[in-house]
Amino acid sequence: MSCLIINGKKKLGGEISVHGAKNSALPILAASVAVGEECVISNCPQLSDIRATINILDGLGCFKSADGTTVTVNSRDLTANEIPDYLMRELRSSFIFMGALVSKTGRAVMCAPGGCEIGVRPVDIHLLALRQMGADIREDSGKIICEAPKGLTGAEINLSFPSVGATENVILAAVRAKGITYIKNAAAEPEIKDLADFLNACGADIKGAGGSTIVINGKDKLHSAEFTVMPDRIVAVSYLAAAAVTGSQLLVKNAHAEHIGTVISTFEQSGCRFDFDNNRIYIKAPERLHKMGTIRTMPYPGFPTDCQAIIMAMAAVAKGTTIVNENIFESRFRHVGELNRMGADVTVTGRSAIVNGVRSLYGSCVKATDLRGGMALVLASLSAEGESIIENTEFIDRGYEKIERDLSLIGADIRRE
Ligand code: UD1
Repeated sequence: MSCLIINGKKKLGGEISVHGAKNSALPILAASVAVGEECVISNCPQLSDIRATINILDGLGCFKSADGTTVTVNSRDLTANEIPDYLMRELRSSFIFMGALVSKTGRAVMCAPGGCEIGVRPVDIHLLALRQMGADIREDSGKIICEAPKGLTGAEINLSFPSVGATENVILAAVRAKGITYIKNAAAEPEIKDLADFLNACGADIKGAGGSTIVINGKDKLHSAEFTVMPDRIVAVSYLAAAAVTGSQLLVKNAHAEHIGTVISTFEQSGCRFDFDNNRIYIKAPERLHKMGTIRTMPYPGFPTDCQAIIMAMAAVAKGTTIVNENIFESRFRHVGELNRMGADVTVTGRSAIVNGVRSLYGSCVKATDLRGGMALVLASLSAEGESIIENTEFIDRGYEKIERDLSLIGADIRRE
């Protein structure tokens, strides 16, 4: 068990580079199972969730090698279509293996993803869509068994909510199905487009990814490909927020501003100024941030739920009152109690948090409760007076590669013990 120790109120500066996107690398690694050939996927971040995905691939007999950020998967001779519970539980998003496995082998067996630190993650939308494509799905002793021995068939799928996971599962199921699949009300997140770009590089025919209707023309066979995962837009926002809460100037490299337009507008409301140049974002933050009105988390291109805790750490030290409404997950305010231990003034009523900005937070001993909530505590500690100790850093390590190394390089006083 390690903890992060941060001495706050240090100005940051210089440049920092963003690693590959976790939420893109995970479905792409799962998708490589459906491909049935060798895939070389680079810019995979070196994170615990990626290691857990590699363990699943290994169990399925498809993992070939990992060299730094490059992972090679070969699903030609896949040996299993069942994922043991202990591997499923290592990773919440493991359920996207369902579409990939049934697509490749006609069968997938795995347990449902359980409740998690940000709320329950139901899979009804995934299962309904797979059934519409001809899968026979039943539950037995806590396992979900999905079978389509004669293959899946293209269908018109209207998602009741633009679920990211369900959209990914349907894409993976549809790439090798017979006929055409239409996904209406699809999730439009950039990671969905990255997944489609990868599969198209392998010979799939997917059109419209990144918009609300996706059309997939199923193919009998896909082929090998090499692919580079997009940069992580939530990590980019986290680094920009580190500059924002410390009144600093920073150059964030390997960041796509077009993926975080809504967040950039909110930062601008707080008084931050930006310059953009060829996947580089330069931020200049004011000495004290301003209130940011009402922030509502929504499916893309709305304000991302993954940035809710991050923006709250900014609002906590801004001048005036900011309201944060969480519309995607019901239990995503667990960081609030910890922020308040550091002197923040945040009150939660249902799905709304009222954040009255204070002039300064103070260093405390706090516990990360989930990945982005943990990052909010890192940000709060960077802005706070004195020393903070953040426990449960394993949550933060799920989404940030050696956060202490990167933040030290730009001037933060942070170390791991
Ligand atoms: C969600 C986020 C994604 C983020 C990820 C990790 C959205 C729309 N999705 O993706 O941006 O990167 O968490 O934090 O912001 N739901 C159902 N039934 C289902 C599937 C989902 O009711 O079968 C509900 C969930 O309970 C949740 C909402 O739909 O309230 C969003 O779920 P979904 O997009 O599927 O979640 P993730 O794929 O985990």
